[in-house]
Amino acid sequence: MTLSREACEALDRADPLADRRALFDLPEGVIYLDGNSLGALPRAVKARLDAAVTVEWGRDLIKSWNTAGWIDLPARVGAKIAPLIGAGADEVIAADSTSVNLFKLAAGALKLRPGRRVIVTEPGNFPTDLYILQGLRDFLPDVELRVVAPADLPSALDEDVALLLLTHVHYKSGAVHDMAALTAKAHAAGALTLWDLSHSAGALEVNLAGCGADLAVGCGYKYLNGGPGAPAFLFVSRRLQAEFQTPLSGWMGHAAPFAFSDDYRPAPGVLRTLCGTPSVLGLTALEAALEAFSGVDLCDLRAKSMKLGDLFLELMERRRLPFGLACPRASAQRGSQVSLTHPNGYAIVQALIARGVIGDFRAPDVLRFGFAPLYVRYVDVWDAVEHLAAVMVREEWREPRFNEVAAVT
Ligand SMILES: Cc1ncc(COP(=O)(O)O)c(C=O)c1O
Repeated sequence: MTLSREACEALDRADPLADRRALFDLPEGVIYLDGNSLGALPRAVKARLDAAVTVEWGRDLIKSWNTAGWIDLPARVGAKIAPLIGAGADEVIAADSTSVNLFKLAAGALKLRPGRRVIVTEPGNFPTDLYILQGLRDFLPDVELRVVAPADLPSALDEDVALLLLTHVHYKSGAVHDMAALTAKAHAAGALTLWDLSHSAGALEVNLAGCGADLAVGCGYKYLNGGPGAPAFLFVSRRLQAEFQTPLSGWMGHAAPFAFSDDYRPAPGVLRTLCGTPSVLGLTALEAALEAFSGVDLCDLRAKSMKLGDLFLELMERRRLPFGLACPRASAQRGSQVSLTHPNGYAIVQALIARGVIGDFRAPDVLRFGFAPLYVRYVDVWDAVEHLAAVMVREEWREPRFNEVAAVT
């Protein structure tokens, strides 16, 4: 790759996704490299939410459950997420948080594998994945949690294992697991797989069906741009739906919620994983946000995500900036983020934010820069590395204000 700002501008002009940036309401003068944590605001969301609040809620009140199709939102939004993760429209719903969905699917997986009591995962997985499994184990005394390093995963998969739960793209390192190979290994041992796609959906080509995956969850507020605290999604393979039982058998997952019968009877298919009343405004925002993916070729999305990360690393290396690398160097093994290490990482990120370059920090020493391919340009990467170099050369991060740690990093 030729390394000049002009070359980056040329890459932007040739970018098949270049028109997507205009769909987002990005603040002037900000280079936003944190879409892996909270996606930017799609312009369509503002108008859609305004109509939902003013007309659907304000004017039409409770009628909107039927007239505006509020009741169908979980399935409708799920169907829009499905093509981004290689799933069928009838295999995905949008509901609850990723944490709650992890609980529902992990517990459901144990039910699908009677006699097997082990759940395998890796140390350093996103905390909520580990905590949910720990909570489940504590509620079901004979469940065992086997937390093994990635290299030992294949040998940890034996005839006692009910479920392998992994995050496809690691939240801190950005390392990508080989979904197809690990799913095949789990299946060979008779276990099911549950993939956390929080850092994959909307940035990588995910092919749940092609990999034979069983279950999956993911966030709606990262690369899917659904807004802060947006509803999450979950996937249950068609193969498993008829047998799947949810531990949170709420009325919205009932076959006939408005029959108000005393006895629980699961809805057909993935709808049975619903629990309570859907978050209508959250789902409405997420639905509008997903329009930004309409017509996007996932190959283009992934190709750009890899190129943006490579460009960042090449520019860093050229400038010999004093950072360790916490992510894989090879783009095929890296998600849509670059992770660096530095003992003063927190202050460096704050100094960068003061310059208008927003990344984030993960304890103890990781700086993360996410490249949301729909709205990050090559020229943004160029400029971001220029700012990073200035922060380091001028030691701006030493300023006391950059060393005061806020509640959310
Ligand atoms: C891999 C992964 N899983 C889950 C979550 C969050 O789950 P929740 O939306 O329930 O807070 C995150 C948030 O960053 C994450 O990175």
